[in-house]
Amino acid sequence: MSGILNSSIGRKFAMALSAFFLMIFVLQHFVINLFSVLSPDTFNEISHFMGTFWVIQYVIQPILIIGVIFHFVMGFVLEIKNNKANGVKYAKNNGAANSTWMSRNMIWSGGFILVFLVIHFIDFWIPEINTKYIVGDMSGMHNGEFRYFHELQEKFVPIWRVALYCVGFVFLALHLLHGFDSAFQSVGANNKYTKGLKGFGKAYAIIIPLGFIFIALFHHFNH
Ligand code: HEM
Repeated sequence: MSGILNSSIGRKFAMALSAFFLMIFVLQHFVINLFSVLSPDTFNEISHFMGTFWVIQYVIQPILIIGVIFHFVMGFVLEIKNNKANGVKYAKNNGAANSTWMSRNMIWSGGFILVFLVIHFIDFWIPEINTKYIVGDMSGMHNGEFRYFHELQEKFVPIWRVALYCVGFVFLALHLLHGFDSAFQSVGANNKYTKGLKGFGKAYAIIIPLGFIFIALFHHFNH
């Protein structure tokens, strides 16, 4: 593994693999959250299953956390290496002349998503870990019913949190708009399917963040 990460192409390849993994995570996260709008009972059932099934908790969740950390650390490493290369090498980034605004600002959109994730963990993940593993209550119940839907709804009552989340989702869209193209390029996807893949990437980058915005606004206005 360290051998792969010693070359520029290897680092980009590993970055792209971690990106695809996170895109799959975000998609399943979106589908589950969508149930909070479509059917609160189903959302409760799925949340309880995801939060208590040992394979998800002790195998998938640690892999996810490692994937997130790897993606951020590698993003910073690539940014620093690129900046160094740009200073002295011939293949110089000449601003708007040979790259788009978003591609030059992946580090900033990524940085804001990192800020969003820290806030998001404090809002949802840490209270879950606290209830389950510190308090030791694995029942998922509160006042005789599953607590997940109610807890989620409560979080979107303050408009400032809804606004902050929506800014996070816009940055996610910007990050993904360039990220998909870049990831396809890094794994060498340059064939007759490339156009279709890029179209799919653009659709994903717009539809998923818009869907998250819809979910946050829905709970704010339907409380
Ligand atoms: C309306 C939008 C969103 C809602 C309602 C929401 C809701 C939640 C909830 C309820 C949890 C706790 C799961 C648990 O029991 O551990 C969670 C965890 C998490 N969310 Fe979100 N989320 C949203 C958007 C996002 C986005 C856009 C991202 C990524 C960019 C994201 C990344 C995560 C991560 C990494 C976790 C920790 C997963 C784990 O290991 O449990 N979320 N979210």
